[in-house]
Parts: sequence; C-alpha cells; structure tokens
Amino acid sequence: MEIFKQIAPLRTYLDRARKSGKSIGLVPTMGALHRGHISLIQTSKSQNAVTVATIYVNPTQFNNPIDLQKYPKTPEKDIEMLQEAGCDLVFIPEDLEMYAEKPRLKFDFGHLDKVMEGKFRPGHFSGVALVVSKLFNIIQPDRAYFGQKDWQQFAVIRQLVGELKFNFELCSIPILREPDGLAMSSRNLRLNQAQRSNAVVFYQALVMAKNALISGAGLETVKKAVLDMVNNRPEIKLEYFELADSRNLTILDTVDKAVLPILCIAGFAGEIRLIDNMFLD
Ligand code: PAJ
Repeated sequence: MEIFKQIAPLRTYLDRARKSGKSIGLVPTMGALHRGHISLIQTSKSQNAVTVATIYVNPTQFNNPIDLQKYPKTPEKDIEMLQEAGCDLVFIPEDLEMYAEKPRLKFDFGHLDKVMEGKFRPGHFSGVALVVSKLFNIIQPDRAYFGQKDWQQFAVIRQLVGELKFNFELCSIPILREPDGLAMSSRNLRLNQAQRSNAVVFYQALVMAKNALISGAGLETVKKAVLDMVNNRPEIKLEYFELADSRNLTILDTVDKAVLPILCIAGFAGEIRLIDNMFLD
C-alpha cells in the first residue's frame, strides 16, 4: 500500500492511474479504524481499480476542542488494517498540508445543517463540507463512499456534490454494528467498560421505537418511552431523538408512509458523544 502525506505527489500518482484508465474509489475517514470503515474499503475495492483511503482528523468540524483533542488516534493499527483489507493507497496529511491558509469558506446548507446534529454541533457540517470538498478536488474520484451511520452527514454531502457539480458517484453503505447492536464508532474506544455496556441502549431504543411506531403507537408516547429508557441507564444521557424524512431531513411528528422515515438518536455515555439511526422500513 502506498502512503502519501503530501498533495502534490498524490496528484501525480493518481493522474497516472487515471490516464491508464483506472477507476478511483475514495473512502474519507478520521482514522481509529474499525470494521465499519473497512466495509467501505471493501465496497470500494469491489467497484474500482484503485481504492484511496484518507485519514485526517479535521479540526474545522469539531465544535468542541476537548472532543478534538481526545479523538482517538491509532495510525499504525489503521495502516495495518488498510493493508490487510487490500486498500491501494492512503493519504495521511498533516494540518499544514490541508490548511496552509486560515480557512475562510463557510457553508450553509439551510435546513439540512440546522436540525439534529446541526443544532447541537454548530459549524460541524460546514467543516465537514470544507474538508470533503478539498479531498474531492485532490483525489477526483470516480466514486466516494460514506456510511449511513452519519446519515445527516451523507445528506449534507449529497447536497454539496449536487450543487457544486462534483463529477462522481456518491455511495452510501449500511451501518456495521457490534454483536450486541451498538453501532461501530471510533469514539467507542473511549468508553470504559460500564459505559460500553450501557451505550447499547441507543440501539435498543431505536429498535423499541421502530417496533412501537410500526405497530401504530403515537410518536409522542414513543419519544417519552425512549427518553425514559435511555436516561434510566447510568451515565447515559439523551440529547435528541427524532423521526425525519430521510431524503430532506424534515422533522416529522407522525409516521408518514409516503416518505422513507428515519429515526435518529444522539446522546452521551459519560462525556463521549454517540449517534445512531435506523430506517423505519
Ligand atoms: P469517520 O467518523 O472516521 O467516518 C468515516 C466514514 O465511515 C463515514 O462515512 C462514516 O459514516 C463511516 N462509518 C463510521 N462508522 C460506521 C459504521 N459503524 N458502519 C458503516 N460506516 C461507518 O465521518 C467522518 O469520519 C468525517 O466526518 C469525514 C467524512 C472523514 C470528514 O472529515
């Protein structure tokens, strides 16, 4: 596997691959890789001649400096996992390479970045849009892969790609979960044993809510049940639980069968913030 830290040689390498007719798949990550990330790599490998992973903990998308400082970093293990998965190339830039100049650009996605995550993490999606735009321009992929674990992020990036006419296929990959149902996340590494065993309640609440709504329970009743269920666990605190139209993230107050609704949940296990979601299909 080729490892690049700088943009210029990476561009040269990829130009050559493109000229020899090879398709390029891009998997952006912030490292601390787990099997969820690897499933994106595997899908890219099955659809492209060259798979490029990026590992970069992007400071502009962190609204909480402590979260940025404590974000897990496991570069040696990441490289090993990518190598094992058969990834062709990894781009691991330093801050100076990605942000040689103080960033000035800001993105506003209207409703898409104001609800749910946007409400609790102001500026987060502007930072995500900025860094992925840079990566799209540097790598110029044929396909880029993102996980459904961050559904709102996917919705924002879909808007970005559509509006700016980026010329590649945007692909979304289902959530990979631990055996007990907890969504795999780099942040899970920060959970202590008790927090880890209680954090599964976010998944359990989604399953309970989905079943209840499908069998006709009212959303208000279900929201209250979710709040009770989650906050009943030690060290776990609900931040939001919403039912939304998965295409445009309009918040729903009843189950609307005409749209494909998604349940989104976020909260804390101790000081570690976790998110999860589930389609209501
Ligand atoms: P990160 O959290 O490292 O996630 C990288 C990609 O892996 C994202 O597309 C995310 O949705 C996907 N992913 C994470 N956990 C997953 C799981 N359990 N199952 C399937 N896919 C999963 O998301 C980011 O990084 C950053 O915001 C980034 C897009 C790289 C921009 O900095």
